[in-house]
Amino acid sequence: MDPTLALYSIGAVVAATSLPRLKARFELSRAKHASLSGHARMARRIARLVPFYEYDEDSFFRSDGAPDDIAVRRREGFRRLAAIWRERYARTTGLAEEIEDIVSDLQFTNAYRVPFQYSKFVRRHLPAGAFAASTSGVLVTDLDGNSMYDLGGSYGLNVFGYDFYKTCIDDGCERVRTLGPLLGAYHPVIAYNVRRLRAISGLDEVSFHMSGTEAVMQAVRLARYHTGRSHLVRFCGAYHGWWGDVQPGVGNPVPARETYTLRDMAEASLRVLRRRRDIACVLVNPLQALHPNANAPGDSALVDSGRAANFDRAAYTRWLQQLRSVCTERGIPLIFDEVFTGFRLAPGGAQEYYGVRADLVTYGKTLGGGLPVGALCGRKDLMKRFRDDQPANVCFARGTFNSHPYVMAAMHEFLHRMESPEIGALYDNLDDVWNERADRLNRRLGDEGLPVRVANLSTIWTTCYTAPSRYNWMLQYYLRAEGLALGWIGTGRFIFSLNYTAPDFDAVADRFVAAARAMRDDGWCWRTDDATNRSIRRRILREMVASRF
Ligand SMILES: Cc1ncc(COP(=O)(O)O)c(C=O)c1O
Repeated sequence: MDPTLALYSIGAVVAATSLPRLKARFELSRAKHASLSGHARMARRIARLVPFYEYDEDSFFRSDGAPDDIAVRRREGFRRLAAIWRERYARTTGLAEEIEDIVSDLQFTNAYRVPFQYSKFVRRHLPAGAFAASTSGVLVTDLDGNSMYDLGGSYGLNVFGYDFYKTCIDDGCERVRTLGPLLGAYHPVIAYNVRRLRAISGLDEVSFHMSGTEAVMQAVRLARYHTGRSHLVRFCGAYHGWWGDVQPGVGNPVPARETYTLRDMAEASLRVLRRRRDIACVLVNPLQALHPNANAPGDSALVDSGRAANFDRAAYTRWLQQLRSVCTERGIPLIFDEVFTGFRLAPGGAQEYYGVRADLVTYGKTLGGGLPVGALCGRKDLMKRFRDDQPANVCFARGTFNSHPYVMAAMHEFLHRMESPEIGALYDNLDDVWNERADRLNRRLGDEGLPVRVANLSTIWTTCYTAPSRYNWMLQYYLRAEGLALGWIGTGRFIFSLNYTAPDFDAVADRFVAAARAMRDDGWCWRTDDATNRSIRRRILREMVASRF
């Protein structure tokens, strides 16, 4: 054969065989979100390049180039806050400082409350108080006796108010007292729990775990076992706990090689699901509807006013329906991670709220009636951990504390109360109530010309900023000074419990407006006419380059 012809033939064969692979690769790239959250590997690389530097006391107040008079106002405002912290929170912050050196978690959360350039100075003068003495109604009281409205929501656990959970725990403990912490054998309360979870999830079987992270791990493991495929699909920005495979970007020291992070609410992602053969499951955190493709909105990343949120229930419902349909078509188990949204959006969680059914559903947080838990509900064929025809081929999942009697008993109390008309009534017009509250607060903020707004998905809120600024993270301290208690991620997430009455909410709204007003009056919202989020980010980049070289 003519050697040229032979070469052409080989080339044609190679092209024909690698073309589909190239096409699949190209489709995968197109289904990635343009942000760093959508590019895990690159994000990890860039994270390692970000150098530490910090502002001295003078530049702390004028990192945006503010003139002297503004810097003076900011300094005065900061001093006033620092005095409040010293006088009002002395015991609460004092005890936290005593143990911070030996509690790694505390060091981490304290370091990441504000952008790192400001962090040490803020920590020195406005230290976080890691302790609380009591809760009652919607209030939390610290060691100094300060009562504050709770907007932290205990990471989402608190759906019905702390008093509700106290009774779940007390009554649950009473119920299992004679059995004590015996593990391995079940307490009879479990029979009720699994029947109720079946009814709530609409799925066949249940397994119990110790945390939401573990429930997600088990869901993915089972999906891989039954499909024989390797990759899990998660959507950009979605949090599913701290297990490596669901945290492929910054935060995980090793790459998650069997995870695809796809763009949320995008046709390109559906195309990937339709074509690839290595997808074991699709994992959805329905909370992402509030900010599709964005990470959990912590204040430590609030370097400008780029945080955006906009909940469109109809659009997200359509997206979930599309996902449902492509997963059914392709035999891919669809997992709803309802660790956060379960029991919060509706008694039947996101499945009920959006009217879309999943094949596997994880629950956690509030389900434990105040105690730590994770649960997985699923289709019978997906939940099975062994094969009848291959007895040695099992999908192992155990855990010392799974089905702990005290946890199961508190869960029993929780699920039992969920059946009561009083708890049922808390869900009446839930969205209307909270949307109206958010609208009303936004109108007040707008009327006063304050550059702050809120966006919400039912009782889950986030704060957005309407004018470019480097100092939005300061709002968390003004809010605390007004008696509003936030979680460690600050203004990015407020989690209200359903027992917030109209007067409770009005009090929160008054304090929120007062805090935003004080922050503006202290000069933190100052900006030049031509400032943009882009110009802020460019300035930060220049600082980083200068500090590195
Ligand atoms: C949606 C979702 N999945 C999983 C988890 C992890 O749960 P846990 O913290 O109990 O491990 C969380 C926690 O915030 C969550 O919000």
